[in-house]
Amino acid sequence: MRILVVGGGGREHALVWKLAQSPLAEEVYCAPGNAGIAQEATCVPVAADDIKALLEFAQKMAIDLTVVGPEAPLVAGIADAFAGAGLKIFGPTQAAAAIEGSKVWAKELMAKYGIPTARFAVFDALEPAQEYIRQQKAPLVVKADGLAAGKGVIVAREEREALEAAEAMLGRGIFGAAGRRIVVEECLQGEEVSVLALTDGEAVVSLLPARDHKRAFDGDQGPNTGGMGAYAPVSFVEPETLAVIEERILKPAIRALAAEGRPYRGVLYAGLMLTADGPKVLEFNCRFGDPEAQPLLMLLSEDLLPLMLEVVEGNLRPRSLNWYPGAAACVVLASGGYPGSYETGKPICGLEAVPPEVKVFHAGTAWRGGQVVTSGGRVLGVTARAGDLSAALAKAYEACEIISFAGKHYRKDIGGRS
Ligand code: AMP
Ligand code: GLY
Repeated sequence: MRILVVGGGGREHALVWKLAQSPLAEEVYCAPGNAGIAQEATCVPVAADDIKALLEFAQKMAIDLTVVGPEAPLVAGIADAFAGAGLKIFGPTQAAAAIEGSKVWAKELMAKYGIPTARFAVFDALEPAQEYIRQQKAPLVVKADGLAAGKGVIVAREEREALEAAEAMLGRGIFGAAGRRIVVEECLQGEEVSVLALTDGEAVVSLLPARDHKRAFDGDQGPNTGGMGAYAPVSFVEPETLAVIEERILKPAIRALAAEGRPYRGVLYAGLMLTADGPKVLEFNCRFGDPEAQPLLMLLSEDLLPLMLEVVEGNLRPRSLNWYPGAAACVVLASGGYPGSYETGKPICGLEAVPPEVKVFHAGTAWRGGQVVTSGGRVLGVTARAGDLSAALAKAYEACEIISFAGKHYRKDIGGRS
């Protein structure tokens, strides 16, 4: 089979790496890819959101399966365009991707179908939003409705921060159309966990629970990022809790989407808070998590490609997936300044010295003058699997010290290590 992976980050490198191992895969392409992906697949210089050019490429190259990494092309309707042209694509339609593309729509869906989530209210005008914020007690969470490149959620400890966030979104329009409506919701307390599930719109097959580390600095300090590291499985998620997540959240969400006439095929990502009242949804995403995909795909011991085909063809067999024993962890090496402004083009050294049992997934890298250089905020995802989490972390952290580039920064406490 000829496979096309859409995207160019660490998640897409992990997808390419895993799919290329399938005996069914003859050729793997990636658009646009990055310097690491280029060593394992044929990179195509087409942007991940250029749906027209991606479709032309897939038709010209007779691609058998396209796998979409990021949310933006899904929310823009890439799955509809490909399916309309008779091409197989892994990822939900535009209508179903609204579960990530519109936080207002997702919250209203959860409310309508009784899926546990934080109490909330929706506003499109500043004054009522401010009034509500003053009535409710801080902490509160203020969220832009649409996609805002991971910056649209403000966890406000103080009333003043919540008022400022509402003013920035509804008053000053800092997110443009994405922030024309906002959700103001209760701030949930507890441990955060991500549970992803493959689904063909009916059957739901969960992956192992994973944990992301969103804040930029150790001890969960600093601004939110796309994710500074992740590991799986998460030992504090008991099998009973996982069953509750499947029965009260994932399956009802898939049924709700179908009942709304928006059947969902692909991977559904539930970002959850394990509260004293049980698991509650923080957000749904319509794709694999980045960096959660890196440890999850490293732990998956079976072929991903037939699973994806079952999803796309609508005949996913309910089952438990096969996993390697132990745990996997991914530590993200970021550019100095990320998630704020940062410089790019810094030469990356030491990649060849990393031991073969550690996999360095590239995120923001490019080739320049025969050298791998930094080209994004999150640069590399250093990922290792071992008999237990601390051994996986030890391997990954050892490799993090071998790799160098100007401004490199990373969290030292992924997986609770301090
Ligand atoms: P998102 O950008 O939607 O992934 O949200 C970013 C982060 O904001 C989440 O991973 C949580 O850490 C936090 N968050 C979102 N909603 C809530 C909430 N209702 N209560 C507490 N934290 C939240
Ligand atoms: N790591 C969080 C996300 O992919 O949304």
